[in-house]
Amino acid sequence: MKLLLSHDQLSSRIREMGREITKDMAGLEPHVIAVLKGACPFMTDLCQWIDLPLSMDYIAVSSYGAATKSSGEVKLSKDLDTSIKDRDLIIAEDIVDTGLTLNYLVNLLKARGPRSIRVASLLSKPSRRLIEVKVDYTGFVIDDLFVVGYGLDYNEKYRNLRDIVVFEG
Ligand code: IMP
Repeated sequence: MKLLLSHDQLSSRIREMGREITKDMAGLEPHVIAVLKGACPFMTDLCQWIDLPLSMDYIAVSSYGAATKSSGEVKLSKDLDTSIKDRDLIIAEDIVDTGLTLNYLVNLLKARGPRSIRVASLLSKPSRRLIEVKVDYTGFVIDDLFVVGYGLDYNEKYRNLRDIVVFEG
């Protein structure tokens, strides 16, 4: 599999993102929500560079399947543990592809009355977008390639790779 982003490249970009968030959210106590499972390594590393008193929670969604994927119907498979009312959220995503998952999540969380919502995504594939979603912090914009590693999987495999590589079947 071909190397796309080395662990060092990921680390230094994530450090920059954390510092930017620290500046932008000065005086706030961010509540960082990782979208399971892929965003876990990213969220963990990102939070180490956010120099603010933050808290963390996790949410999991799964697609209803190929037939309904394009309608954006996703199912909540693990909800948050605590209320997000009046909190300043950062949604940490591994990758924004069509945008359908993120769009669903933002609408779901918005309805619960947080004070603000920001989105940080390690990767973005803008050429695949079906719906416009606002991503406040993007790690890397990539071409229309299927990638694995650093949390990203193919059939639950390769999440443990330190680098991000192009999956070539
Ligand atoms: P979206 O709803 O199409 O934006 O899909 C987002 C989700 O699809 C991500 O959170 C990933 O779980 C998965 N995904 C999209 N592209 C890739 C990829 O290249 N590798 C691994 N997972 C991907």
